[in-house]
Amino acid sequence: MTVPEFQKRKREGKKLIVVTAYDALFARIVEEAGIDVILVGDSLGVVVQGNQDTLSVTMEDMLYHTRLVTETARRALVIADMPFLSYQVTVEEAVRNAGRFLQVGAAAVKLEGGAAVVDRVEAMTRFGIPVMGHLGMTPQSVHRYGGYKVQGKEREQAEALMADARALESAGAFAVVLEAIPSDLAQAITQALTIPTIGIGAGPHCDGQVLVLYDLLGLFDEFVPKFVKPYAHLKADALQALRRYKEEVELGKFPTDSESYH
Ligand code: KIV
Repeated sequence: MTVPEFQKRKREGKKLIVVTAYDALFARIVEEAGIDVILVGDSLGVVVQGNQDTLSVTMEDMLYHTRLVTETARRALVIADMPFLSYQVTVEEAVRNAGRFLQVGAAAVKLEGGAAVVDRVEAMTRFGIPVMGHLGMTPQSVHRYGGYKVQGKEREQAEALMADARALESAGAFAVVLEAIPSDLAQAITQALTIPTIGIGAGPHCDGQVLVLYDLLGLFDEFVPKFVKPYAHLKADALQALRRYKEEVELGKFPTDSESYH
């Protein structure tokens, strides 16, 4: 999938399905499932690296994982998340860092924020780097919010989010993620924009949805937000398999003759 094809889906009224992936194995499985947009999210700081938040993820971490995905994905549009401090300091640094993701095969980057990043979005777009915005509960601002809390519930906040969404669109963003905001606000933003909105905890009216792969598969259960629906229970399956393996080795039931060389 290309960026223009991604945008066309909104005009056609076809939902966009996005999931995160951080390595070759899962990128392959995601593509085999027919999902055509992979976000290499900085959520890897939590689900892969085991941190409390995404703030310690580095450019090197993101480039490494993006490369694992882009070297595997054949069809999917791969979007790379710009980590904390890779785009906040100066426009110049932001453009350079965004370009590095395209050099390892990503087709686009995502960054968090509204008015504060509009000049970055404009500059990147001008130089041919497609940018996805991210508004609402933006995890890199977790300390400003005092936790992972729903945003845009108050009228003033909602109006600011609408203004931010319009500003991102005017700056050239090709899409915007709406995270943890009331669904009527997400619907209003979706109707106001010509670019697609991708929701996560933003109700059913967005042009598409995104979930963190490990949440969707039931692999990560340390913190499960209300908006997550586990479509599988792979942690439970993994635990069962590992316990059986341990037991069978202890009891001398594994390996058997059929798992041995002669
Ligand atoms: O990092 C991430 O995985 C994300 C999605 C949850 C939107 O930003």
